[in-house]
Formats: sequence, structure tokens, C-alpha cells
Amino acid sequence: MIKILKIILLLLFAPAVLYGTSVDEVITIETKNTVMIFTGHPGEKFLFQFYGDKVNDVSQVIRSASGMNEEAYPAFGIECSKEKALQVTHPDGNMSADLFFKSVEKIKIDDNISLTKVVLFDNAYAFQVTVNYKTYFQEDIVEIWTDILNEGTGPVTLFKFASCYIPVRSFDPWLTHFHGAWGDEFNLIEEKLERGVKVIKNRTGIRNTQCDNPSFMLSLDGKSTEENGDIIAGSLEWTGNYKISFDMDEKYKVNIISGINEDASQYILERGNVFHTPKFILTYSNKGKGLASRNIHRWAREYKIKDGTSERMILLNSWEGVYFDITEDKILKMMDDFAKLGGELFVMDDGWFGDKYPRNDGTSSLGDWIVSPQKLPNGLDPLIKRAEENGLKFGIWLEPEMICDKSELFEQHPDWIVHQPNRTTLKGRGKSEMLLDMSNPVVQDFVYHVVHDLLVKYPKIAYIKWDANHFISNYGSTFLDQDKQSHLYIEYHLGLQKTWERILASHPDIVMQASSSGGGRVTYGHLQYFHEFWTSDNTDALSRLNIQWGTSHFFPANAMASHVSASPNHQTNREIPLKFRFDVAMTGRLGMEMRPDDLTPEEQNFAKGAIETYKSIRSIVQQGDLYRIIAPNDGCGIASLMYVSPEKDRGVFFAFSLSNNLRYKLPPIKLQGLSPNMKYKIAEINNTGIGSKLSAYNEIFTGEFLMNTGIQISMNKVCQSIVVELVEVP
Ligand code: DGJ
Repeated sequence: MIKILKIILLLLFAPAVLYGTSVDEVITIETKNTVMIFTGHPGEKFLFQFYGDKVNDVSQVIRSASGMNEEAYPAFGIECSKEKALQVTHPDGNMSADLFFKSVEKIKIDDNISLTKVVLFDNAYAFQVTVNYKTYFQEDIVEIWTDILNEGTGPVTLFKFASCYIPVRSFDPWLTHFHGAWGDEFNLIEEKLERGVKVIKNRTGIRNTQCDNPSFMLSLDGKSTEENGDIIAGSLEWTGNYKISFDMDEKYKVNIISGINEDASQYILERGNVFHTPKFILTYSNKGKGLASRNIHRWAREYKIKDGTSERMILLNSWEGVYFDITEDKILKMMDDFAKLGGELFVMDDGWFGDKYPRNDGTSSLGDWIVSPQKLPNGLDPLIKRAEENGLKFGIWLEPEMICDKSELFEQHPDWIVHQPNRTTLKGRGKSEMLLDMSNPVVQDFVYHVVHDLLVKYPKIAYIKWDANHFISNYGSTFLDQDKQSHLYIEYHLGLQKTWERILASHPDIVMQASSSGGGRVTYGHLQYFHEFWTSDNTDALSRLNIQWGTSHFFPANAMASHVSASPNHQTNREIPLKFRFDVAMTGRLGMEMRPDDLTPEEQNFAKGAIETYKSIRSIVQQGDLYRIIAPNDGCGIASLMYVSPEKDRGVFFAFSLSNNLRYKLPPIKLQGLSPNMKYKIAEINNTGIGSKLSAYNEIFTGEFLMNTGIQISMNKVCQSIVVELVEVP
């Protein structure tokens, strides 16, 4: 019987095995400057050979035997000692998969995008894996994912299901990744990879980027710099738990395995079903980290971030201004004051909702998304009306996935939470916050209606800050079947994504920010639904320089919310001049997070000018190419970066003084990204009117001079800063 089944399977899946062919098929995945090379012979193994700079005649890689010759999507069970991309158990208990090349299909999607689908089959089971490679030619990006199909006799359990597997060889591999914590997100860590397995991963279930980020840069020839180094950079597009392993199992070989974190997540794939892994993007740079970032930023703006090429509004968020203490008067006053400064959008943060339990602090009300009659007796209408009169758009804060035990929702639906029925549920913020079970379609529908009904009732709401301040504790779902409890980490996110898709389908113009206790949701899994993310709850400008520096390696300025807050700063208690705070915030999507009337009249004047200045350079910051020049932790007391327009006719340069340099003249700072042949007029902008820190004012220099020799600035005290605009002149 088994023999007959095998023959049928061979007929179905491996015609090439029967008819035979001895010529290896070379499959290339090409972008403008890079190539990924595979070989596949029908009925044989599908092999990864090469990823790097474009090779003119790819047969050279094969003829020179310099290719990797490694299985492109290895599975556990035959050769068992190494880390694999896939591990399954078949209905008969067999724990192996053995995949062979079946076919390849190339699909041209448009002039820039192509998709290559490589189908692999198992010669003993009706089990098939399609590995997809989608290329974005101009941006040098490859997006990789797999579709795992079970056509067997019963359910297959997936124990490991990576999105992507890339083997590389290197004499001196250095890994850059981004570790962090609340208020201290995205610290760049660069470390030499040694033998063994290095893993970056998350298992909070919800805010998947508060610790590390599912993004890395692997330098293949020693420690990289912004301009030098052969680098493979990758980032996972997934909103939940992730795991990226760097398995250095031989002296010079590193296998990179990335995807959903399979810990406690074995997935039962029913017969006839397909499991789609999340997408993983890769780029290759032969010019260090800077080029890798620019490739990813361009791709992200054009193809991934919601409305990624549209202009972002300058907003004021109420959180650090009034926290939970929301009243109509306070909100109206903030809106009036912000409008006078030239603001464009007002966002009312936490504290506006709850009827039976008004939201006065973190101990209650999540789930009761009705305007609090005690706090806002006239409802939202007067606020929205005043925003409109002031020429502002109106936005609002929601935390729809969460629930407090002190809420009407919990009284009605105690069974909707993520919990184990026979244990006490661990609560989060306010010793009250819990998580709604987004794997449950009824809960998905509730969450959809929280947003939909609000937007139908108040169609002028233009922006939603979608917060998520809890994590998965008491892992368990009363919705999922007993044998599928291990699906929760994944089904939660599939349910959540479905809900976001539904919201966006009903309200295509709504602008959304992903927030999660600060920067807990900063991935391309989120940004396909969101326009931007809240980078960190730490708004201290000096801290932000470091946090935003790390974040900028994978995420562009138009998605990075960066707000000017009060001084002393509420998180660090540090006092920082308003100009420095504005200049730091202007390197991202500028906003404010304070009561404007806490500023003196002179400061308000400055803020008004700064907002006007930002409007004049916004297109360069938000859509231009980023060049990181001096890192905040380089130890030279200065941090510096610049943006250059795609046409290279405009640029904006920022420098920040991080220490006192009382008696020293700084070396000139060499600019980057300009056209050597163009001439640029340079001028300091956003200054306080007390003399320029730029030594040459309104002078004209060639791009070549500015990049080879540099500009001279004088900043000798900590927390001074300068913004220089460059405009091409004939
Ligand atoms: C956490 C967010 O990161 C903050 O910006 C703020 O929205 C609070 N939640 C409100 O509770």
C-alpha cells in the first residue's frame, strides 16, 4: 500500500525524477546591484549557492565551486545535527521531511517587481513547500517567505517553520542588532560572531520590539562602518514572537535562520491547508550600513509603510501635557495654542473614555470605549469642531486589544480574555490590564467595531494612536481547541492583522500610529497597516538621539514619531534647551508632546519658527536619503546626520553637541550623499538668532568640497545643535 502511494506521489510531484535530466537548472534572483543564485535539478536537492554583488556570468560561481552548495530550505529528519529551517511530524509519527526541487515559476508583477516561486516536494509524503522570492529591482530588496502545504492523509504538526534560510561563509563575521528596554529602545550592538548559535528573539507575544528588534546587519568582512563593509541586512515582517538564529556551525560558515519563534507554538496543519510564513526582507550592501539602510528605507516608503510616500502631519499629542487629566477646557486650550504655532493635527491620548468607570489612571476602563460623561460632558463634538476651526485635524488614542478588570466590558465578557480558566490571571498596568483573545472571531469583531463605530460616529477623526501596553501572560485561549492551544501566539496575530485589514478596508483614509509602551511595535509586520510608530516613551532629546540612531538603521524618518516635550524631561528629569529638543525631533516626524502654554512667549516664538522651518525641509527629511555621519556613541562628543533629496539638489544637515569642548576647534565634518559636481549654497536654519554656529554663512561650495573637506561648525557646549540647509545653485 505504502509502495503504491509512493509511486502515485512520484507521478504527482516529481515527473522529472522519472524522465530524468542531468543539467542543473541555475535560478537567479536578481536586483539592480545584487544576485542570489540557486541550483535545482528536478528530483534533486534545491541548493543555495550565492548572495552578493551582481556577477556578470553567474556560471562563474558554479564553475569556480565558490558557491555554498547548501540546501536552500533544509528540513529536520535526515541529517539531524544542524539547525534547520523546517521541522514537521507527519500523521504516522514520522518526524522527518526530505524536500526536493520540483519546479520554478517566474512571474513579472510590474517593471520593478518580480516573483520567483520554487516548489519543493517530499518524496515520501504529500507535503510541499513553496519558497517565494519577490524582488524589488531598483531598491535591491528581496522578500522571502514560504507556503507549507499539507496534502497528506491527516494533520501535520509544524514544529519549526522559518521564513528564510541563508547560509554564508566569512573569515570575520560581525553581527549588528538592536537591543533595548522600555525607554531605552534600539541600542545598536555590534559583536563578532563566534562558533555556536547566537539568537535574537522575542516571546512577549504582543510588544515584540521592546527588547530586541527582528532586524540585523551581518558584516562579512570584519566590523563594518557606515560607508564600508559587505553587509547582508534583514528584517522580519511579523507582529508577534520572532526568532533569528546565526548558527556558526563550522569555522567560517554562518547559517541565518529567521521567522516566527516556534517556542511553544507548534502548529497543527490540517489536511488540505497551507501555512504561510511571514515575509522576511533582505538587502545586500557592498558599501556598509549606510547603503543597506537607504535601500530598506526606499523600499519601505514605496512599498510597505502605509501611504509611505505621503507627507506626514506635525502633531501635538496630549499625553505628557495632561496625562489622564483630560477636560474639555484643557484640550481646547492645547488645540488653540498648537494651532497658533502652526501645528496640523491634535491627538487626544489616554484618559477620555469610560462611563461607569471613568479612566482616571491605569487601574480601570480599558474596553469601555465611550466618551466619559464625567470628563467630557459635551462629548467629542466640541473638540472636533474647535480643531476644525483651528485648521487642525483631530486624532484619538485607543488601546482596543486590552481590557481592565474594572470595566463594563469585563463584567459582560470575562471569558474574552487570554487566560487559563483554572489559574489567577496575572494583570499588567494598574494591576488591572489584561489581553483580549484576538484569536476569537467574536473578539475580532468587537475590536473592529470599537474603531469602526467611533469613526462612523465621528467621521472627522483623522488619526488613531493604537496602543498596546500588555503582553501575553497566562498563555491560554478558551476559544481555541484543546489540541490547538499552542496556536495562540500565532492565531492572536492572524486575528489582529485580519482586524486591521478590515478597519483599513472600511476607513482607507485613517492614519494610524503603532504604539506599545513606547517602541514595542516597530516592525514591517506592523507598518503595512500603520503610517508610523511611537519610537519610545522616553522623550528626552539626548536619549532620543541614541534611540533614533538605532531605529534609523531599518526604519525611515517619516515613520519615526519624534516629539518635543517639556523641560525638565518627565522621564529623565534632564533640562535641555528648546532648540536642541526641536532639532532632534526634526530629524524624524516632528511633533510636540506638552502644553504649549508651558513655554515662555519667546519659546513659543521659537517653536512657531521651528515648525515653519520643518515644513520647509519636511520633504527632504521624510522622503530623502539618510546619511549617518557621526554616531552619538562614537566618543567624539558630536552626533551628526543628514538627509539628501533623491535628486540631490537639496540637503539638510544636523549636528548635536554631546559634551563640552570649551577650548577646542572641531575638525570640519565631511558631508555625504551630495553630487560632487553640483554647487550648493549652505545656510544655518532654525537658529535662535544669536549668531550662527556655521562658520560660512550663505556661501557656495561644490558637493565635492563639502564631501571631501567638509563644513566647519563651532559648538563648544553640551546640548548645542545646528541645522544647515543645502540648496543647489547654478
Ligand atoms: C503608552 C504610550 O507609549 C504612551 O505614549 C501613552 O500613550 C500611554 N501609553 C497612555 O496610556
